[in-house]
Amino acid sequence: MYNKTEIDNIDIRLAPPADEPDRQYYFMAKCREWTQKFREQHGYSPRACVVNMGCQMNARDSEKLRGILETGGYELSSSEESEFVLYNTCTVRENANLKVYGRLGYLGSLKKKKPQMKIALCGCMMQEPEVVEKIKKSFPFVDLVFGTHNIFKFAELLTTMLESDRMVIDIWKDTDQIVEDLPADRTYSFKSGVNIMFGCNNFCSYCIVPYVRGRERSRKPDDIIQEIERLVADGVKEVMLLGQNVNSYGKNLDEPITFAQLLRRVEQIDGLERIRFMTSHPKDLSDDLIEVMKHSDRICRHLHLPLQSGSSRILKKMNRKYTKEQYVALAQKLRREIPDLSLTTDIIVGFPGETEEDFEETLDVVRKVRYDSAFTFIYSRRTGTPAAVMEDQVPEEVVKERFSRLLTLVQDISREMSARVQGQTLPVLVESVNGQDEHLVTGRLGNNLLVHFPGTEELIGQTVNVYLKECKGFYYIGERANDEERSEVKNGTVNTDDAEICGNERAI
Ligand code: SAH
Ligand code: SF4
Ligand code: F3S
Repeated sequence: MYNKTEIDNIDIRLAPPADEPDRQYYFMAKCREWTQKFREQHGYSPRACVVNMGCQMNARDSEKLRGILETGGYELSSSEESEFVLYNTCTVRENANLKVYGRLGYLGSLKKKKPQMKIALCGCMMQEPEVVEKIKKSFPFVDLVFGTHNIFKFAELLTTMLESDRMVIDIWKDTDQIVEDLPADRTYSFKSGVNIMFGCNNFCSYCIVPYVRGRERSRKPDDIIQEIERLVADGVKEVMLLGQNVNSYGKNLDEPITFAQLLRRVEQIDGLERIRFMTSHPKDLSDDLIEVMKHSDRICRHLHLPLQSGSSRILKKMNRKYTKEQYVALAQKLRREIPDLSLTTDIIVGFPGETEEDFEETLDVVRKVRYDSAFTFIYSRRTGTPAAVMEDQVPEEVVKERFSRLLTLVQDISREMSARVQGQTLPVLVESVNGQDEHLVTGRLGNNLLVHFPGTEELIGQTVNVYLKECKGFYYIGERANDEERSEVKNGTVNTDDAEICGNERAI
């Protein structure tokens, strides 16, 4: 990673280097020259706004994009009236696309008033050729379009855009490249996402991700460890290891390693307090992973284990490669081995051919597993996926009715499960001052639930013990406790009989 002086010493009159990441630092230096000129001309720095519209992986990409813009001399802003606005898009469901088109209309009207404004689009949605065609036709004021595979080239594309008065489009079909050591601007000083792999090989029949993110590629363990060590040295206490299916991490490396082995190495990093990961595909979750989690005091007691459907017949059509029985057995094993584990999931309602009986099977799994929280999605037809051309697409009214039944069940159970830790004193990593009441701060338990308690700004980024006074549905109200007062983790089976509320949020 280059520091500021090293970037200022790059001679941009020379030709750009061929190797990465040196090449991108050269273009960041070039961008610095442009932003410096802008400052001299206008008396203020050009502002840049990156809007994240997707999952945790997209959010991490946005931090990298912001890091490059900041290194290039832009002032980061959250205002879409900035001189440069970049939408980092998602396309997992159709409404994600519709949202982008709607907001582009608004950006176009802003640009009419301020013609020097630059607008760029990147992310998963840009990997779809029809989308790029539509943008060319309907939104000709867009200045730059790039995809997921060449995101590391952002500095280069940005300088090309600054020197061009036409729409710059650069989309790659795929890549096997992983470029390390580019800058990132973290949203939180004390926690960070860390990509451990990119892409997906699973081709669940409803899902567009493998088409827009390409084949699975794992980062080398040494690179991951080095990144986390640097983050910890920079004040990070919690990392979230990111991949579409972390349980298949490392299989294709020259020196194969399992996810559980990687976790063992991450656990050794001094100063790292909390480790999370996302997402686990049930078909690849190993006993070894359960062992590592069970004996770790740093790996958070939270596992996101997408179910998608409770019907073995539908699961087969979804290409998920597990049955209802296998899933339930796995969830029960997890509950048995790690009793204080919070289990969350994703469920799709209305997959083609889903009958009332299939849907009842989903409800049955929800009742058996008792999720701490679940994200429920209405099936969205994605062009190019096998499910999009399957017969028996379920009528909208039927899907909506099932969806609301599922939601009611999920929320009822989630309320009961979340109240499991009421009355305990547990560590909370403080994230922010409460948006509604400035006398309160907001933080997260290891199991991912939010806690609000009296405190001040100085606590942000600190882990403190909090007495969990009252569960209020989707969060706790607590009180700070002495550092020694921490509840023992209760072993034994989970008893949720007379409990109450809670749930949590998902980025998309
Ligand atoms: N790789 C992760 C999920 C990534 S997408 C995994 O396998 O768990 C996040 C969630 O979006 C999925 O779990 C699924 O529930 C939902 N999803 C994906 N494609 C969808 C579609 N076409 N319609 C509705 N929901 C979808
Ligand atoms: Fe999509 Fe399935 Fe890959 Fe998850 S595992 S990203 S749902 S194809
Ligand atoms: Fe994530 Fe959406 Fe892409 S879920 S991987 S941003 S399609």
